[in-house]
Amino acid sequence: MSRPKISIIGAGNVGATTAHWCAAAELGDIVLLDIPQVGDMPKGKALDLMQASPIMGFDSHITGTNDYTDTKGSQVVVITAGIARKPGMSRDDLLSTNAKIVGSVAEQIKATSPDAILIVVSNPLDAMVQRVLKVSGFPNKRVVGQAGVLDTARYRTFLAMELGVSVEDIQALLLGGHGDTMVPMPSCTSVGGIPVSQLIDPKRLQEIVERTRSGGAEIVGLLKTGSAYYAPAAATTQMVEAIVRDKKRLLPCAAYCDKEYGVGGYYVGVPVILGAGGVERIVELELTASERADFQKSITAVKELVAAMNALPL
Ligand code: APR
Repeated sequence: MSRPKISIIGAGNVGATTAHWCAAAELGDIVLLDIPQVGDMPKGKALDLMQASPIMGFDSHITGTNDYTDTKGSQVVVITAGIARKPGMSRDDLLSTNAKIVGSVAEQIKATSPDAILIVVSNPLDAMVQRVLKVSGFPNKRVVGQAGVLDTARYRTFLAMELGVSVEDIQALLLGGHGDTMVPMPSCTSVGGIPVSQLIDPKRLQEIVERTRSGGAEIVGLLKTGSAYYAPAAATTQMVEAIVRDKKRLLPCAAYCDKEYGVGGYYVGVPVILGAGGVERIVELELTASERADFQKSITAVKELVAAMNALPL
């Protein structure tokens, strides 16, 4: 039996690290693609990773390329292509540049891997995933955004640090957009089954939530030359695994919600069942009044972002 084919578009920090972890977990054979302007860089990274395989003990093949023909027939395509915001660049500049980039990627993938499941990682995520859905014309269950797994992982990390317990014992959930308006769900947060409210006082919990909300910015501030990539790549790898191994994981992902949560046709972070069919189900939770208000605020922010993108000449 052949291995699943996983293509990663954008061989930068997030793309190459995702390739590394997907290979280490033997999730499939991996194609790492970047634009011709970067030359043989994806080939170099792929070869370097292949040479780690005898030591790490994986049999996944990794290929680097600038040619979409090599991605043909992929089961999963991860889109990390894009540019980071540079000084002097407005949010709309970034929105416009990355929307054009992910749009062109979606067109190529539509032609070469019409049955693939697309995982969008490029930022601003909630708008980019909407753009990929539109340009690809794929059914919405086959286009999903990576945000919630990362945000929740950051939250779980901070909770484990606070309590001095294993990260494995922290269960948590965050909803909403990927950004300042993400919605923590204390009712869905527990430590070894104990509700977090019994272990951390509300004020301290709120501080941890705030740190989670600005988790990406904290890393940018430390790195100075780029944004986070280990945790984003780990989050993406978990989503790839859920799909190629049909694990039906319940994970928070940016999924297309229409009637669900009354969103009305936008991507927003919600718990989903992720398996071989992509987003197989959106899980609707009962929200408290304050959670609902926060979620609504988050949806409004996503709608504004998408409206700003749609107003641009793309
Ligand atoms: N097609 C394919 N790759 C492209 C394209 C394109 N049209 N345009 C740019 N790229 C590539 C760049 O050449 C670069 O190698 O995308 C890669 C992006 O890599 P980095 O600059 O290292 O950025 P990274 O840290 O990987 O982040 C990628 O993921 O988490 C998000 O906010 C992050 O939007 C960003 C994305």
